[in-house]
Amino acid sequence: MNKSVGIIGMGSYLPERIVTNFDLEKIMDTNNDWIVERTGIERRRIAEKDIATSDLGAKAAEAALLDAGVKAEEIDLIITATLSPDMNFPSTACIIQEKIGAVNAAAFDLGAACSGFIYALTTAKAFILSGQAKTVLVIGAEVISKLLNWEDRKTAVIFADGAGAAVVSGVEEGGILSTALGADGTGGKFLYMPAGGTRMPATHETVDKKLHSVVMDGSEVFKFASRKMVEVSEEAIRRSGLTLNDIDYLVPHQANLRIINNAAKRMNIPMDRVYVNIQEYGNISAASVPIALDEAVKKGHIKKGDHILVVGFGAGLTWGAAIIQWNK
Ligand code: UT7
Repeated sequence: MNKSVGIIGMGSYLPERIVTNFDLEKIMDTNNDWIVERTGIERRRIAEKDIATSDLGAKAAEAALLDAGVKAEEIDLIITATLSPDMNFPSTACIIQEKIGAVNAAAFDLGAACSGFIYALTTAKAFILSGQAKTVLVIGAEVISKLLNWEDRKTAVIFADGAGAAVVSGVEEGGILSTALGADGTGGKFLYMPAGGTRMPATHETVDKKLHSVVMDGSEVFKFASRKMVEVSEEAIRRSGLTLNDIDYLVPHQANLRIINNAAKRMNIPMDRVYVNIQEYGNISAASVPIALDEAVKKGHIKKGDHILVVGFGAGLTWGAAIIQWNK
């Protein structure tokens, strides 16, 4: 059995439809300057009406399998991190399993919001190291646009749609050197969807009051994220036995350019060693880290042997970081 676990292939998929800040100006009281200055977002991808999270997740998964040179039948576990599942049940992971023909895979969803991909990566590593799985497909997929109140400018300009995936398996050396996860349920009230669960099932009233959509206290989440992103990164680095100086590249959750800039500055990582695509895609929650990682690798920013810090934070509140020595 391998002692190391790494990412052996990655893929991502974004819906084709581009919605710019100028498009949003036409449908709500907002403006391009505010959105760019406060968030860094210039445009985002929005899925068509007939597209659900599993459709994007399956496409990202197929791209990752191709990149890894692994057949769908070789996958023995699928973990899908999402806050926008196709439906309450069955899991989006099971729906993706059918779509890609991963007939030998167990499948489940993981709910850790924007930290979901890092939680799922940690889970995949644990399954492999304990001998319960050999090849795990980790997917972060979201269609958040369908969970937004398009009259709430505080959330509608931020979130968007897309998917990223990684094939995780035993490797000779390097790979996922360490991970660190955390949660603080007392902050759940800062980012949540009030209705649609067992606390507040769907009624005419919940629909009329638009309670089936994302509610966020942006400034509370901003304060938490700015603090936790650095803390959890430092913890993951400590667990890996490395130091900040050993980190070659930072791939952060794409929630807000100001949060990314502040964290990079506090960790002394120059911005040319930080991957940023928030201007193109906005915040895609659990999909944001795998999409960014896939793009950073494919654009040549990350090379074999590099030490990568990936870090995320989000609803829960949750946070997580991983140190990966790139294998490919
Ligand atoms: O991935 C999950 C984690 N989520 C996050 O990390 C989000 C973290 N938070 C943020 O990124 C920021 O808090 C936001 C970008 C969401 C908001 O930025 P902010 O600087 O915290 O703005 P604010 O909510 O304090 O609002 C400032 C002003 C308000 O106006 P008044 O009350 O000062 O007159 C808002 O009504 O900006 C107004 N505002 C807008 N104006 C134009 C809020 N949203 C908009 C908008 N367009 N879309």
